[in-house]
Amino acid sequence: MKKDKLTTNFGAPVADNQNSRTAGPRGPVLLEDVWLLEKLANFNREVIPERRMHAKGSGAFGTFTVTHDVTKYSRAKLFEKIGKKTEVFARFSTVAGFRGAADAERDIRGFAVKFYTEEGNWDLVGNNTPVFFLRDGQHFSDLNHVVKKDPRTHLHSPTSNWDFWTSLPEALNQVTITMSDDGLPASYRNMHGFGSHTFSLYNKKNQRTWVKFHWVCQQPIKYLTDAEAEMLVGKDRDSHQRDLYEHIEAGDFPRWKLCFQLMTEEQARKLPYNPFDLTKDWSTDDYPLIDVGMMELNRNPENYFAEVEQAAFNPGSVVPGVGFSPDKMLQARLFGYGDAQRYRLGVNHHLIPVNKARCPVTGYSRDGMMRVDGNYGSKTSYEPNSFGAWQEQPEYRQPATPVNGDGDNWNFREDDDDYFTQPGIRFRKMTDGQKQRLFENTARAMCGVPDFIKQRHIEHCTKADPAYGAGVAKAFKEREKMMMGMKKMEMGHIADGDPAAKGCGC
Ligand code: HEM
Repeated sequence: MKKDKLTTNFGAPVADNQNSRTAGPRGPVLLEDVWLLEKLANFNREVIPERRMHAKGSGAFGTFTVTHDVTKYSRAKLFEKIGKKTEVFARFSTVAGFRGAADAERDIRGFAVKFYTEEGNWDLVGNNTPVFFLRDGQHFSDLNHVVKKDPRTHLHSPTSNWDFWTSLPEALNQVTITMSDDGLPASYRNMHGFGSHTFSLYNKKNQRTWVKFHWVCQQPIKYLTDAEAEMLVGKDRDSHQRDLYEHIEAGDFPRWKLCFQLMTEEQARKLPYNPFDLTKDWSTDDYPLIDVGMMELNRNPENYFAEVEQAAFNPGSVVPGVGFSPDKMLQARLFGYGDAQRYRLGVNHHLIPVNKARCPVTGYSRDGMMRVDGNYGSKTSYEPNSFGAWQEQPEYRQPATPVNGDGDNWNFREDDDDYFTQPGIRFRKMTDGQKQRLFENTARAMCGVPDFIKQRHIEHCTKADPAYGAGVAKAFKEREKMMMGMKKMEMGHIADGDPAAKGCGC
C-alpha cells in the first residue's frame, strides 16, 4: 500500500510519530522534541468559543432555485429570473444546549440560511417559529441566562426559566409553540422555518414592501413526544445530525419552499397592532404566502469544524433589494452577530471559506489577526482617493426610512398590551390531542416551579383561552399526584459487593 508522508505544520518530514525523544530508553522527555511540542500545543488550541446560544448544530450545502417572478417586490439579483440558482449553506440548531447537548430536546430550533449571491452574501437567520419570546433586545441576554444553567448549581433551573417567561406576558405566544408539538421536531428535516422578523423588500424603482420570510417544509412535519425524545436521547444524542447527514448521503435531499408574506406600507400603518413586534405574526388569511423558490440541501460538509463550526451568519448581511425594518429586536441583532463572531472567530472571519462571498470583495478593511489572503497587496487602502479605486455605488441606495418621535426608552407595553389574542387563536386551532400534549408538556416543564409562578402562567393561559388555562391547571394537579407517588421510588441499583447491598449501610 502506498504510504502518504507525515509532516510538521511547516512541511518538514516527521521521522517518528510513535516514540517521544527521551534521555535513554526509560529517561525523561527532551524539550528538543519539537514534534511532540507542536502536537501538544495544537491540541490545546483545538477548541474555539462556542456560539453563546445555538451552540449545537448541523449544516449542509445546497441550492436555491427561483420558481416565481418576484421582481416587482425585490431588485435582488438572486430573484432576477425564474430558474436562477444560487448556492446556499444552511445551519440548523437547538438554542439552549451547549455544543455537546442532545438534539432531541424541547426547545426552539435555529434555521439559518446563507445565500452566496453575486451581490454578496444574504444571511436569513431565523428559527422554526414565526414569533419570539421577546420584542426588545434589552431582554435577550436574560433569556439566555435563564434557559442555560443556574450560576450556582450548574443545573437547568425551571424556576428561573418560568419566572422570567411569565414575567414577560408577551412571551406566551412563543411559549405556547415551545410547549406544543412544534417545540420538539422529530428532526431538522421535518420542520418549517421562518425569518420571523419583519424585513423589507425594495424593487428597482425603490418601492418598499414589508415582508416576512417563510420556509415551507416539503417533508412531512413530524414531532416527538417527551417520552419518545427521552428514549431517543438515551440511545442517540445526535439524532438530528445523524438524520440530516444520512439522508443527504443517501441522496434523499430535504427541500423547503421559500415564500414571502407581504404587507404594504399603507397596510402596516393601518394594522391594529405593531407590524414590527416580533412576538406577533401576521395572519396568513389576511396576508397570504406568495411562492418564491425552492431550497434543496444536497451536499454534506467535508469537514464539520471548518464548515459548520466556523460558519458565521449575520442578520446584518443583506443584499440590494432586501432591507431591515424598525423591529427593535432585529435592530439589536444587527450589532450582536458580527460582534460575537469577531470574538468567536476573529476579525477576519469573512475570509473563512464557508463565510467568504462568492463574488469579488473589494473593500478597505485591512490587516488584523489571521489575515490569510493577500490583504489586497499594493492596492490603494483609502477612500476618497483620486485614482478611481473602489468607489461607492449610489445606484444601490435603499429607499429612505421615515422615522419620527423623541428619543426615549419607550415602553412597548404602553404601545400595545395585547399579549393574549394570538396565543388564543393558536390554541383554538389545535386538535384535542395537540391541546392535551400542550398541557402535559407544560406541566412536565414546570415541575418543581413555585406555585405562584405556575399560577401566573395559568392566568396568562386563561386570558388567551379559558380552556387553555383550565387544561394546564388540571395537568399540574395530575402531575403533582404522580410525583408524590414517584418520590417513594429511588433511582439506581446498589452495586454487588457494596455493604449497602447486604443491608448494613450506615
Ligand atoms: C445565534 C444574538 C435573537 C436566531 C446567535 C448568536 C448571537 C445571537 C450572538 C451567536 C452568533 C455566532 O457566534 O455566530 C442574538 C440577539 C438577539 C437574537 C442579541 C436579539 C436581540 C434571535 C432571533 C432569532 C435568532 C429573534 C430568530 C428569529 C439565531 C440563530 C443563530 C443565532 C438561528 C445560530 C446561527 C448559526 O447557525 O450559526 N444569536 N440573537 N436569534 N441566533 Fe440569535
